Amino acid sequence: MVDYTKAAPFKEAGEITPVFVRFSTVAGERGSKDTARDVRGFAVKFYTDEGNWDLVGNNMPVFFIQDAIKFPDLVHAVKPEPHNQMPQAASAHDTFWDFVSHMPESTRMLVWVMSDRGIPRSYSMMEGFGVHTFRLVNKASKSVFCKFHWNPKAGTHSLVWDEAVKISGAYPDFHRCDLWDRIEAGVYPEWELGLQIFTEEQADQFSFDVLDATKLIPQELLPITPVGRMVLNRNPDNFFAETEQVAFCMAHVVPGIDFSNDPLLAGRIHSYVDTQISRLGGPNFHELPINVPVAQVHNNQRDGMHRQAIHRGRVSYEPNSLAGGYQLDAASHAARARKTIQT
Ligand code: HEM
Repeated sequence: MVDYTKAAPFKEAGEITPVFVRFSTVAGERGSKDTARDVRGFAVKFYTDEGNWDLVGNNMPVFFIQDAIKFPDLVHAVKPEPHNQMPQAASAHDTFWDFVSHMPESTRMLVWVMSDRGIPRSYSMMEGFGVHTFRLVNKASKSVFCKFHWNPKAGTHSLVWDEAVKISGAYPDFHRCDLWDRIEAGVYPEWELGLQIFTEEQADQFSFDVLDATKLIPQELLPITPVGRMVLNRNPDNFFAETEQVAFCMAHVVPGIDFSNDPLLAGRIHSYVDTQISRLGGPNFHELPINVPVAQVHNNQRDGMHRQAIHRGRVSYEPNSLAGGYQLDAASHAARARKTIQT
């Protein structure tokens, strides 16, 4: 992997990186039944030696829209209808059908969500996808394109509709309970992390745009290379403090992982922070224990509501020479200047 990326989790074989994972539904609100036909969120926070990397994906490899500006419309259409707040959790209802009928690019994703993939048997039996095309960057600053795939060791399995309907009445917490029990029993859910890696030249040869999140790259064209595995071996100690307060953010990448020009990805990079500032009560949610990186932060930034650390001194910026925070030597200065010019 070092040929492709300098990212900390891939720096050598056997490297172990702690993660926190949140699976979620899209349409259903908190407390809604688990087995509604819906997309499932598959969000993974890697606490790497070089800061947090969040891979915020879904259990389906494509997405409904190409342009992030349509995301609020998509969510308004799929959520319970505003005049009577019905139906809860279900994506198949009039406002959603109305919206997607005007958005032909949503057809591919519609087929996925209305398929059995929309009613997974267990969170441990779901595939996960980063969806977008990302970039990997190696030590020589050479980059390739990359798509991320999580492949469940238990296989990909769905319920049938009759089971899903019965379970939703008898056991609405079915998926959450199943995940909890598996981990408590030591039957740890496990996924293989696989990558589709390709160059810009290869991308140019495809008959579709790799920067369009409504498309996937068929494995017949580009096989998946396994590069690691993820094992969920510990339940949270406190649901609110951890699962509720964890903040996943597309902008959280580490050196070695970078963005492509996918316009939907560009929208997401900005959107999550914006939401979390209100959901978690201010700009310092990165100091909540579940969100704190294991790598120490030295960016000198401070203040804002609910700040936990008490910083000393007059320097709240970088680079600086007043606080000894930046070794201003000719080589690093030149490298910084080059980088500024490139971007
Ligand atoms: C490839 C397309 C997308 C995927 C795979 C995706 C995935 C996800 C996932 C997994 C979550 C739940 C994260 C969690 O557990 O905290 C989420 C939440 C969210 N997504 Fe997306 N999403 C996509 C597109 C978008 C777009 C286009 C936008 C906006 C421009 C957006 C905005 C949000 C927001 C605001 C939240 C709530 C975040 C929070 O409250 O912390 N998403 N998304």
